[in-house]
Amino acid sequence: MRVLLAGGAGYVGAHTAVALLDAGHEIVLLDDLSNTSALAAERVSQITGRPAPLVVGDASDESVVAATFDEFGPFDAIVHLAAFKAVGESMEKPLDYYSNNLDTTFALARVGLERGIRSFLFSSTGTVYSDPSDLPFTEESTTSVDLSNPYSKSKRMNEVVLADMARVNPELDVTVLRYFNPVGAHESGLIGEDPSGIPNNLMPYIQRVAVGSLERIGIFGDDYDTPDGTGLRDYIHVVDLALGHVAALERAQPGFVVYNLGTGRPVSVRELIAAFERAVGRELPKVVLPRRAGDVDATYCDPSKAARELDWVATRTIDDAARDAWNWQSRNPQGFASA
Ligand code: UD1
Repeated sequence: MRVLLAGGAGYVGAHTAVALLDAGHEIVLLDDLSNTSALAAERVSQITGRPAPLVVGDASDESVVAATFDEFGPFDAIVHLAAFKAVGESMEKPLDYYSNNLDTTFALARVGLERGIRSFLFSSTGTVYSDPSDLPFTEESTTSVDLSNPYSKSKRMNEVVLADMARVNPELDVTVLRYFNPVGAHESGLIGEDPSGIPNNLMPYIQRVAVGSLERIGIFGDDYDTPDGTGLRDYIHVVDLALGHVAALERAQPGFVVYNLGTGRPVSVRELIAAFERAVGRELPKVVLPRRAGDVDATYCDPSKAARELDWVATRTIDDAARDAWNWQSRNPQGFASA
């Protein structure tokens, strides 16, 4: 299959690029490099020994998408991972988040439909589930557009748009993947998570503390209603997540379908830190801080639909993720800027 991977130089994108190439597909990456580096594409090529051409451009601009099809098309599928994803920033810049995260979908879908793609795969989030009493979340659990932040709302809005697009294009496969919390890195240590500025998410924060560029881990609350008092999340190794994209593309059927991509295993903040400490071989400085606004006690999924229909399961553990993330971070203390 020939795949246009929008957002393909990002964290999930680069790992998905490797997984697609390893499975024998051809890819072209389209990325504006707003939150990553062109080096990610070079590293994808280095890992796989296959070409990973990168178009540097804005996927929300139809003329850019059309020019990418002119130069590199035709494509069988579009995998759409091009989005702004910082929850806190989305509270400050809601219009930027709504316009970027929806316009990329409009441009990719419009041009893709004109040019005869068969599959459209969209990266969504497990935060679209809105009723904690539904845990573990299945694809049938309650969703809402009335979520806590514009990032999550923009993802749910996209799902609504894509369901309608699928309805009027019955020959098209439209797949929505709801990710839980991606962590880890490729085992080569050549690609990994490299957020700009101070990381918002737990795992990259731990990585920076371990490498010495941040002082100590802040645990956001230890009085949650969970076994050790810290928040529970479904941390999925990014390589498993990437393989989920390959399975979804290879098994796609006409129509609109949603899959949770997670492990189904809730892990606490303290457990994730402990796994990282095992990987590094020493204790890391940490302090308990007040809860972060908007955080919930627990979120994890039931991934059995993907197991049944895609023959896909997440096999890697948090210890695998910690080992691989540490391998990436210790070889690249400044991320891609270390090169
Ligand atoms: C966040 C986003 C989610 C996104 C995901 C990507 C929300 C509210 N959050 O999820 O949309 O898909 O990242 O991975 O929409 N924690 C600490 N210290 C830190 C950072 C986090 O204790 O420095 C805790 C949090 O309270 C939480 C857990 O670690 O219990 C995970 O937090 P984080 O990695 O930020 O992910 P989420 O908030 O679950």
